[in-house]
Amino acid sequence: MSPFQLTRTLPENATDAALRADVRQGLTRTPKTLPPKWFYDARGSELFEEITALPEYYPTRAEREILVARADDIAEATRARTLIELGSGSSEKTRHLLDALPGLISYIPVDVSGTALTAAADALLAERPQLAVHALIADFTRELALPASPGPRLVVFLGGTIGNLLPPERAGFLRSVRDLLQPGDHLLLGTDLVKDESVLVPAYDDATGVTAAFNKNVLSVIARELGADFDPADFDHVAVWDRENEWIEMRLRARRAFTVKIPELQLVVPFAAGEEIRTEVSAKFRQERVRTELDAAGLSLHHWWTDPDGRFALSLSGPPARP
Ligand code: AVJ
Repeated sequence: MSPFQLTRTLPENATDAALRADVRQGLTRTPKTLPPKWFYDARGSELFEEITALPEYYPTRAEREILVARADDIAEATRARTLIELGSGSSEKTRHLLDALPGLISYIPVDVSGTALTAAADALLAERPQLAVHALIADFTRELALPASPGPRLVVFLGGTIGNLLPPERAGFLRSVRDLLQPGDHLLLGTDLVKDESVLVPAYDDATGVTAAFNKNVLSVIARELGADFDPADFDHVAVWDRENEWIEMRLRARRAFTVKIPELQLVVPFAAGEEIRTEVSAKFRQERVRTELDAAGLSLHHWWTDPDGRFALSLSGPPARP
């Protein structure tokens, strides 16, 4: 038996049903889209870990730099007794926070991947056996219900993953986080920042092709799960900077015209030569936009920390103090 509690709020088959709905919807509309959450099977998670070590991919290093430099400031500003981590994955960067929070009693990692949660919780408890760990399998973009835990609570959402949500999804997500928080609780949010295209595009189109393999992995996921006869070699990896929306888009572009059969959906999907599937949006922020979006959700920006090069930001926000 594991020395931590594992709660599943996602039905076992929820992932499967969501994948089917997303694929049917995304590949029968124009332009075609697929949500980025389907990148992350075991292979995709491995490729993402490789991405974080690429010389071109700065966000992970920049964010870790801020966390290391500001962990004590975060501890002092929050005095958190419960740390809730959304999209915790390997919980690797969180170590810095856990170590800095002297009054921490309870850690609640939330992820859609039960295997990632179990591995992370096991590793963590080996070092901190007195910590109460309650791992939660949940899709926090859909619903967010947490076990009772001692306040003050600190919700952290790192990696710039909020940028993978579209603006209306972001608004809904921040609202639901706000609804979890009481006066004295906080949200620590990681956001990648707007910068020159010459830095942004290579971060999503690296020289060695790891990001291309990561992008194409979504086709392998759909092939395996739904029997689709995708050939990843039929697609080119594309990363473009949308200067209007201030986001990077990853796409898969058909190298020729062909059709893809998806037996599990009884669906045949035609592709024109050059046709693209949008597989990810990765929004880049300015302080003003972060402040405005937090405000709209009922959260006030208290602190804004960046790395020395101003590439990435951590913001600390919270509900207004009780009147
Ligand atoms: C860290 C999940 C937010 O958008 O930068 C990395 C994912 N996509 N390379 C990002 C990603 C392409 C990443 N997130």
